[in-house]
Amino acid sequence: MLTSKSHCLLFCLSLLAIILNNFALEADAARAFFVFGDSLVDNGNNNYLATTARADNYPYGVDYVTQRATGRFSNGYNIPDLISQAIGSEATLPYLNPTLTGQKLLVGANFASAGVGILNDTGVQFANIIRMPQQMAYFEQYKQRVSGIIGQQETERLVSQSLTLMTLGGNDFVNNYYLVPFSARSRQFALPDYVPYIVSEYRKILMNLYEMGLRRVLVTGTGPIGCVPAELAQHSRNGECSEQLQTAAGLFNPQLQQMLDSLNQEIGSHTFIGVNIRQTSIDFISDPARYGFVTSKIACCGQGPYNGIGLCTPRSNLCPNRDIYAFWDPFHPSEKANRLIVQQIMTGSTDYISPMNLSTIMALDAAEYV
Ligand SMILES: *[C@@H]1O[C@H](CO)[C@@H](O)[C@H](O)[C@H]1NC(C)=O
Ligand SMILES: *[C@@H]1O[C@H](CO)[C@@H](O)[C@H](O)[C@H]1NC(C)=O
Repeated sequence: MLTSKSHCLLFCLSLLAIILNNFALEADAARAFFVFGDSLVDNGNNNYLATTARADNYPYGVDYVTQRATGRFSNGYNIPDLISQAIGSEATLPYLNPTLTGQKLLVGANFASAGVGILNDTGVQFANIIRMPQQMAYFEQYKQRVSGIIGQQETERLVSQSLTLMTLGGNDFVNNYYLVPFSARSRQFALPDYVPYIVSEYRKILMNLYEMGLRRVLVTGTGPIGCVPAELAQHSRNGECSEQLQTAAGLFNPQLQQMLDSLNQEIGSHTFIGVNIRQTSIDFISDPARYGFVTSKIACCGQGPYNGIGLCTPRSNLCPNRDIYAFWDPFHPSEKANRLIVQQIMTGSTDYISPMNLSTIMALDAAEYV
């Protein structure tokens, strides 16, 4: 009796360990990932829309596993891909991709759309893109569809234990306020008044995400919008960044972080995590060689000064080694630069991500969600 009991004890304990282990693995794999925002994070939704804001042609994707353009504004992986990899998840599919059905929905979804901004009137020239109210409506629809598979209660758990990435703001300057001289918004607001206005509109969007059940949301500020090759080509004589746009980013990013802090305080949790991609970008713009780049001014793919004029197309100049360019096209980072950004998201200090980095969040949440 005794021996069989102690056998069972050992056997049962190891069985329990196996079950728990599998459970933990499943729980890990089940951390859904959602993406909202603009071209920095769109992974192909715009391919399904009648818009000019698209990356569906060679040489986009030249370094992607399929060596095909996917709709990502990158030579290879973009920021969401690299976050999925870092947290051990499959890449999310674009929400409009018709193969996003059944169990695949449980991985999460990407709702982002190149050209959008915080404001509905940002990116009007791109016509048919998924503006923020529609991205959020699609998320509601997503929840309905998932409820049909795993039930409402499990769906709420999946959403509350998920991770979200939100990237907005750059287009509200580049493709709205500064799109043309004397734009409607620039006649309506002086820059120091426009920034608090878009930050207050952004707050409503983020509150909406919270109300829809999301509890961990990485929110990136704008990148170095005045230093991208497109701006250098238009405004720069000696490679200096556009002062206007750098001023705008300099106002926007700290006010965004303040707003996130106050939102967190209001809801009483660390739901919103501010990612300072401007800092990472400043690092490789001020000292490209330190990060293995030969230049942070000239785009790999494009034409004209700094390869910054127009778009990256099959007829553009294309650099042979994408890893030594910080910018892939006139506006978007190369995969290599995206890796540096995601590295700071994972393990950076509070200069890069605040109030804590994603490894810390993953460890905290793993302890809580067991
Ligand atoms: C954008 O549009 C949505 C609905 O279409 C509306 O609720 C929201 O207030 C609009 N945002 C702004 C800043 O006008
Ligand atoms: C960020 O992550 C690393 C690795 O997990 C950790 O050692 C470090 O303390 C974290 N930094 C901050 C500021 O949270």
